[in-house]
Amino acid sequence: MKLRTLFQQAVEHGIAADPRGKDAVAKLLKKEKRNYDKLTGKEKELFDQERLWNPFADSRILHGTGNEELRRLMVGIDIETAEILLADRMRERGEKIDAIFIHHPEGRALADLDYVMSLQADVLAHVGVPVNHSEGHLGPRMDKIRRAIHADNLFRTERAAELLNIPIFTCHTVTDNLVWQFMEKTICSKKYDDLGEVINALLAISEYSTYAKKGNPPIIVNGSKSGRPGKITATEFTGGTNGPEELLEAQSRAGIGTILSMHVTEKTLEKAKEHHVNMIQCSHMASDTIGINLLLDKLAKEEKRLSTFDVSGFIRVKR
Ligand SMILES: [Fe+2]
Ligand SMILES: [Fe+2]
Repeated sequence: MKLRTLFQQAVEHGIAADPRGKDAVAKLLKKEKRNYDKLTGKEKELFDQERLWNPFADSRILHGTGNEELRRLMVGIDIETAEILLADRMRERGEKIDAIFIHHPEGRALADLDYVMSLQADVLAHVGVPVNHSEGHLGPRMDKIRRAIHADNLFRTERAAELLNIPIFTCHTVTDNLVWQFMEKTICSKKYDDLGEVINALLAISEYSTYAKKGNPPIIVNGSKSGRPGKITATEFTGGTNGPEELLEAQSRAGIGTILSMHVTEKTLEKAKEHHVNMIQCSHMASDTIGINLLLDKLAKEEKRLSTFDVSGFIRVKR
């Protein structure tokens, strides 16, 4: 499959699992087009054309024409110059690597990370938090993230890939949407007597048991094994990066008893304690890996010869 086709299909799968819903995403893309049409001069020149079809600002091809034929992907959660050198070294040793698939964004996908954060309002709306409330808290947090990332050295990874001429693309919210949907269906929709049962249900998922064996199991960071979970949600799985901790209180008011998360910040933990919301930190790497695996399963249906070379926290599990 060609790089462009593979990436377009990945975006389609991300849209199908998007908490905003397919229609809202289509509306958003139309709005981008209307905005673009109104622009002139420098503003038009600087407009990111990618925004006209891809609603995930943190997912894009960083290097490659799109015409490259892909069968074997190096897949990793964090890919920087070191991993690109590793790809080149492995190629020298005869390993076939047609392209690199990164999860955590780099380059422009990282520069624009804050744009995808607005979908957190939709994730929270699914559990009953009013959108006006979420948006009120998200706005300042998005500004903060944008300013912080703006100062980073954003383009090292793509430059390394360019120099060694290895096609590279990143899928972040695309696969985080898939794992969010998976967690809501597989874990959150079921009934449990206590948090211990929730942990057991998580450990029944291949990725979580694999990472648990390596010393990175799901852990209860607030609450106890014998505590009752109440209403469970996986609101901390998609939407770019952690939302503002104020939204934890909002979830508590909306009736949430337990939040499943990839990573819990100290401030969020403080709020969870204050409002007696149980929190399970499920393993960041295992959770990101589930999302990537779900996407690869879908892509493998189209490209039967698709295989992976696993690095940087990723382990391929087929479903
Ligand atoms: Fe992720
Ligand atoms: Fe992540």
